[in-house]
Amino acid sequence: MTFKVTPWEVTGDVDYEKLIKEFGTQPLTDKILARLEKHTGELHYMIRRGIFISHRDLDWLLDEYEKGNKFFLYTGRGPSGHTHLGHLIPWILTKWLQDKFGAELYFQMTDDEKFLFSDKLTLKETNNFAYENALDLIALGFKPKLTKIIIDTECADTLYPLALSVAKRITFSVVRAVFGFQNETNVGQIFFTSMQAVPAFLPSVLAGKNIPCLIPHGIDQDPHFRITRDVLPRMGYYKPAALHNIFFPSLQQGNKMSASLPDTAIFTNDKPDEVKRKIWNALTGGRETIDQQRKLGGQPNLCSVFKYYYFLFETDDAELEKRRQACLTGKLLCGECKNELVARINKFLEKHQAGREAGRKNIGKFIFKK
Ligand code: TYM
Repeated sequence: MTFKVTPWEVTGDVDYEKLIKEFGTQPLTDKILARLEKHTGELHYMIRRGIFISHRDLDWLLDEYEKGNKFFLYTGRGPSGHTHLGHLIPWILTKWLQDKFGAELYFQMTDDEKFLFSDKLTLKETNNFAYENALDLIALGFKPKLTKIIIDTECADTLYPLALSVAKRITFSVVRAVFGFQNETNVGQIFFTSMQAVPAFLPSVLAGKNIPCLIPHGIDQDPHFRITRDVLPRMGYYKPAALHNIFFPSLQQGNKMSASLPDTAIFTNDKPDEVKRKIWNALTGGRETIDQQRKLGGQPNLCSVFKYYYFLFETDDAELEKRRQACLTGKLLCGECKNELVARINKFLEKHQAGREAGRKNIGKFIFKK
């Protein structure tokens, strides 16, 4: 089975073990997790379950932290549309890390990237989506004092000179090898990694001293940070550390939840009836008839509805296992399981959407200012 993972495209059934080897990242071993737990007091369920699967230099980051060298967090979003539940995965863990470590967060909105990589979107549209997507961050409860949202086109006076010093150290042959760029690739795309590298050292520039950086993100973004990690030491800065999550699947299985296929994803601004329709149309691991399901049991490992519980809507491990067993033994039928999920998603979205609306008047407190 072939699969492909790039920052712009994820296709096929991803074999994460293989991907980790290919990308050269480190698996999150029990040993390093125990070290993290010493500082956090517990492990987030996404880490316990392996939704966060690998890292770069987390051990180094903890060494520095133990020496009293605090780190900042960095993550981001390419604002090409509304936020879907998959995007929330790295942000929820980032929020947990902010709370546990009292760390500052730099959040980059790459409205420039999404303009450069889209055939349809105007810069005005990607910029508007940056503000829409920012509301999702605010709704997740990030602290305004510790959170700075950088919108690329609006912070260009700060970012551009720094991006230039990165760009000068990246050759075309490197980006061609890493991203597979061709002669038709526009020159903005070729330059773009230089912009995504900047927040990984911007706080060090502002503070006038080196500050360690931790980037929680979906593993698809790793190619940008492989280049960043190569360049930053040559500029006198630390390599950023990273934590990588796997993909929240689509409602039709396989590929990751994708904004370009709206019926296969739940968006944070979906209405209750849309959620219901999408979940009822989802691919499950159910059998053809109720009789068969009672006799043979369902197949949670093949079920996108079960994955919703696993990723976001059942955070209690014992309850999740109960649900799995009830499905496997044919006690729990798909209709009941879907209904419960719809209710949980809609309850979550009702609160989240209220948080988004309340956030509209606070957005200014989050926007990065020099
Ligand atoms: P973007 O907008 O594609 O995705 C935002 C973040 O969400 C992750 N992600 C997912 N995680 C789990 N399941 C999914 N189905 C899923 N889909 C997307 C992505 O890996 C990402 O972490 N170029 C970036 C924006 C960016 C950025 C960053 C991201 C700028 N600086 C620093 C991470 C860290 C982008 O287009 O992300």
